[in-house]
Amino acid sequence: MELPVPAEADVLAIGRALAGAMPSAARRPFAALDDKAMALASQDAELKAALFRFVDVVPACRSVDDLATHLAGFLSEVEEQPIALAQAMRLAGSKGGRAALGAASARGVKHMAHRFIVGESPQKATGVLASLWKDGVTSTVDLLGEATVTAAEADAYAARCAEAISVMTSAAERWPARSAIEHDSAGVLPRANLSVKVSALTPLLRAEAPELGLRDAAPRLRALLRQAKEQGAHLHIDMESYDSREATVELVLELLAEPEFADGPSAGVVLQAYLRDSPEQADRLIKWVRTTTRAHPLVVRLVKGAYWDHEVVDARQHGWSPPVFEVKSDSDKNFEHLTRVLLGARRTGAGIRTAVASHNLRSIAHAVAVSREAGYPDEDLELQILRGLGDGLGTALAARGLRVRAYCPVGDLVAGMAYLVRRLLENTSNDSFLHDQGAGVPLERLLAAPGAAV
Ligand code: 2OP
Repeated sequence: MELPVPAEADVLAIGRALAGAMPSAARRPFAALDDKAMALASQDAELKAALFRFVDVVPACRSVDDLATHLAGFLSEVEEQPIALAQAMRLAGSKGGRAALGAASARGVKHMAHRFIVGESPQKATGVLASLWKDGVTSTVDLLGEATVTAAEADAYAARCAEAISVMTSAAERWPARSAIEHDSAGVLPRANLSVKVSALTPLLRAEAPELGLRDAAPRLRALLRQAKEQGAHLHIDMESYDSREATVELVLELLAEPEFADGPSAGVVLQAYLRDSPEQADRLIKWVRTTTRAHPLVVRLVKGAYWDHEVVDARQHGWSPPVFEVKSDSDKNFEHLTRVLLGARRTGAGIRTAVASHNLRSIAHAVAVSREAGYPDEDLELQILRGLGDGLGTALAARGLRVRAYCPVGDLVAGMAYLVRRLLENTSNDSFLHDQGAGVPLERLLAAPGAAV
């Protein structure tokens, strides 16, 4: 049952308190990306496209000269060049200039990537995970590398996942007790938490033949579920583009309903609020929880969705209407609706544990208000942020006694490119909350109800 809409005054008060608890630099995360290109890209679609094409080829470039030549090549297609670009283009004309331009651009891309990526391997990531934990922030690790094309690649990804679960569980044994982030009213929350992408577990994930991908991914996912159960870790299955949604949901719900998983592991899925049909998906998950006997509640991570540009372009190419809301405030409104629906299902059967994943202060404040007005303890609501983008927000949430989890990508730059491009797309979008926040939009407007005229 959907919980009631909270009092607007409560949402605003919670939002203001959270904003007040954020370190001042974190209120301008966009400015902290000391990359002028990001700000420029927000203003010019052609330039944005050129920069993204460049980011995509960086890992394949063999020298700074190569880098500079590619950068200049992409930028030469931008018709109206801001001064900084015209200067860059002049530099690209000489060998020495290309060396400088290439080195600077490589530094820029690496710098951005390092904001998001916590380590090249799970082993190298454990230091960051431990320090987040000490600061009262729990984590989920995402192994970069998705959309595999061969069975060998899918096997290698599954092996990396298995290694990550082992490395995390043994590292986490040494972490000090932090009661606020390791249990809620339904029980213990595993310290080791891995997020996996089904497109990395099979090369056969295709919209036109979902059954094929599902069957091929199943044994790899089943093995990971077994290991997570044995080692007491949480396994979260990420959602990707719309064409793989059906196969992903079916695969996960089918495997979790197998008798061997009735008493573990703790597991979860993702609900993307930018999808027009997400309310039906929420109902489907709630019905599944009600009719499936499992010891652990199903964790549902509510997100807006990270594949918006892809969905819109893909639908247009096919002459379809996009599966996503095209107006940002419609997604935001739906996000609030789904927050109330999911939190309302907390006590159905084994229940749903809701994790609200957003950098939007308004969406977060709304979720906290709904949960409090329903009389739930704060520990029953999880909030999630992305490492490198929501760090200041995460600190503020933890400081206010809220349970927060950072999504931490692990891997190398090549594997991380698709992830990096998604983050760039989101943050150069003029509709993005972080963009508005970074641009200094007043708090009252940032906290206003979606779609409200302020
Ligand atoms: C992504 O990989 C965060 O899962 C989200 O873009």
